Amino acid sequence: MSSSRSPVQVFGTSFQNPILLAAGTAGFGRELAGVIDLDRLGGVTTKAVSPEPRSGHAAPRVAEFPGGMLNAVGLANPGLDHVAGTDLPWLAAHLKRARVIVNVVGTVVEDYVKVVGRLGSDSVITAFELNVSCPNTARGGEEFGADECILGELTAACRSATAKPLIVKLSPTLPDPGRTAAAAAAAGADGFTLVNTIPGALYRRGAASTGVSRLGYAQGGVSGPALLPIGVLATRRVRERTGLPVIGVGGVRRLEDVRQYLQAGASLVGIGTSALADPRIPERIAAAWEAGG
Ligand SMILES: Cc1cc2nc3c(=O)[nH]c(=O)nc-3n(C[C@H](O)[C@H](O)[C@H](O)COP(=O)(O)O)c2cc1C
Repeated sequence: MSSSRSPVQVFGTSFQNPILLAAGTAGFGRELAGVIDLDRLGGVTTKAVSPEPRSGHAAPRVAEFPGGMLNAVGLANPGLDHVAGTDLPWLAAHLKRARVIVNVVGTVVEDYVKVVGRLGSDSVITAFELNVSCPNTARGGEEFGADECILGELTAACRSATAKPLIVKLSPTLPDPGRTAAAAAAAGADGFTLVNTIPGALYRRGAASTGVSRLGYAQGGVSGPALLPIGVLATRRVRERTGLPVIGVGGVRRLEDVRQYLQAGASLVGIGTSALADPRIPERIAAAWEAGG
């Protein structure tokens, strides 16, 4: 079908539409092949990659509630060697038009540097997304994004390790996301993803299980519909403050939600939780956007 819209030019390349799969909700793409046509999307953001494999937290890893979902996957991933040797070659062989953004995580700054340094010359990768905002890890994740000095140090260290665009993914709980983003921009960030999940906890029902988490881990990240206005505001504040490209993420279920992020200044929009319930939602929204809807 011919498109009535122009592709999105950002991060040194062209995205056929602004719709991305959000990090951690689509594995490394392969998991969804046969279910959806990944090449109809603007791009795929991978699960977080750390230098060593991580088994993640104990089950249950997700709990639904009326406002959305709580997850504590614990950044489970096969590690750098497997991603470099198996997952990225699969993406290179199967994606012709959709772009690939690699989400990166670590427990110390050097972990991030190792991942972007090792993968930095892989031509299938359009950009790295630095996850400095995961609310369900004991070390790393959120603490890097909460401290502007450490965030600046981490961004600058990654900047020296790769020429690819660096996108910093921030938390919705920051008091002033614009100020935090400006610190990362000064250290070499090329853009931002707003937002990651909000920290939360839920307990099991029943007196016998008082104080027992519904997750295998004591806390998790809240995602889904309630994040929409939070992500839209954070997108606007970061875009206004830095002028750099923003990927809007949080609570997108339909084309109207995508428009909210685009109006706030986002260049691209990621979809996570709603696609876990119905994997074809991103493809449908991408087609509707391309058709001019
Ligand atoms: C099961 C699950 C796993 C996630 N894993 C990651 C991850 O590895 N890295 C990351 O930066 N964000 C991760 N996220 C956050 C999402 O990318 C996204 O920022 C968040 O869920 C908000 O979008 P949504 O409301 O569309 O789900 C994860 C979210 C979920 C629900």
